[in-house]
Amino acid sequence: MWTIHLIVAARPNFMKVAPLYHALKSVGWANPVLIHTGQHYDLNMSDVFFQDLGLPEPDIHLGIGGGTHAEQTGSVMIEYEKILYETMPDFLVVVGDVNATMACTLAAMKVTYNQHSHSASSSGKLAKTRPVIGHLEAGLRSFDRSMPEEINRIVTDSLADVLWTPSPDGDDNLRSEGVDPDKIVRVGNIMLDSFEMLRNKIESESVLDEIRLDPGSYAVVTLHRPANVDVKHKLELLCKELVEIANDISICFPIHPRTKKNLLQYDLLSVLEQHDNIIILEPQNYIRFMSLVINCQYVITDSGGIQEETTYLGIPCLTIRPNTERPITVEMGTNVLCEIDNFRELAGEISNKYESNKPQVIDLWDGKTSGRVVESINKILMGR
Ligand code: UD1
Repeated sequence: MWTIHLIVAARPNFMKVAPLYHALKSVGWANPVLIHTGQHYDLNMSDVFFQDLGLPEPDIHLGIGGGTHAEQTGSVMIEYEKILYETMPDFLVVVGDVNATMACTLAAMKVTYNQHSHSASSSGKLAKTRPVIGHLEAGLRSFDRSMPEEINRIVTDSLADVLWTPSPDGDDNLRSEGVDPDKIVRVGNIMLDSFEMLRNKIESESVLDEIRLDPGSYAVVTLHRPANVDVKHKLELLCKELVEIANDISICFPIHPRTKKNLLQYDLLSVLEQHDNIIILEPQNYIRFMSLVINCQYVITDSGGIQEETTYLGIPCLTIRPNTERPITVEMGTNVLCEIDNFRELAGEISNKYESNKPQVIDLWDGKTSGRVVESINKILMGR
């Protein structure tokens, strides 16, 4: 049996790891070990996703929680290194671009060079050789180094042994950075495996009845990026524009903890709550959230994953960011990048696309990515 560590930390990781966990469980040669670093710790930011996605309790919980970037990254490295010395896996899978993606990669990469150091091991055991490191969702680049995620992507991709990319632009980015082409394996978009796994439940979910909205009659809004929600005057303007949009269409806004904290601090939450057409919700579980998305007229977001999910489903999406690491979503025509001072105008235009958009066909975005990742892991381990 090969032991394979799967790292999860924050909400967007869970739907990427779940299909792989299930696929590895179903083969006879893999022992997947689920490790939660604890970056997202609330019931509705973490536990409910485990339930929806059929994931068991994590085998190991590092309990790191929030903190500054250095605190999160450093703590994950320290705690994960201890795990590595206790139970060195054969393979480590990191996903996406959160702080733990980079931190676990760094810890696993350097564990080899510490193998003669007793002080690094809580048990006093010496490490066997370091695990093979695979990065799932590799090669994405926004070319904006002010984004913490971009730093995590660059560091992780420069160290990992195998780079599983979702789309051709990922392959191109890695090649242009001088990555050995033999390390790059295009596998497609694993997040959509989760969608297909739960499609029936998503389509029969009754959240719309609960909040009294009709299909096609509302917009979904999600916002959490520090560049948008941490700056007072930007958040004020965002709220003002959302209130204007809500004069024309209902808005359903599940609020991320970072955004809620700032709205409360700047006294803006009540501005949204007081509008009859704005429905503020707690963060939603995966099935309920995707049910809101498949039935909406359009989405306004600054998330990464939602740009891809809306492209796959053919739903118009406005992304309030100056750039995207997922350019294929813009090329396919579903996603439009915008700014805080023009998204209201574009919302009017994009809503007309509602009827005409069709689900997009992108090579290997087919709900079968986890099988290709398992195949790649098997090939690497057998060839060792
Ligand atoms: C992180 C990721 C980001 C991802 C996002 C999805 C990094 C650098 N960022 O950002 O890429 O898009 O997750 O949500 O890794 N909090 C809670 N409860 C929770 C989780 C967080 O109250 O369960 C609070 C934290 O204490 C903090 C804030 O929400 O004040 C933000 O959490 P943080 O971990 O800093 O990152 P995100 O903004 O969620």
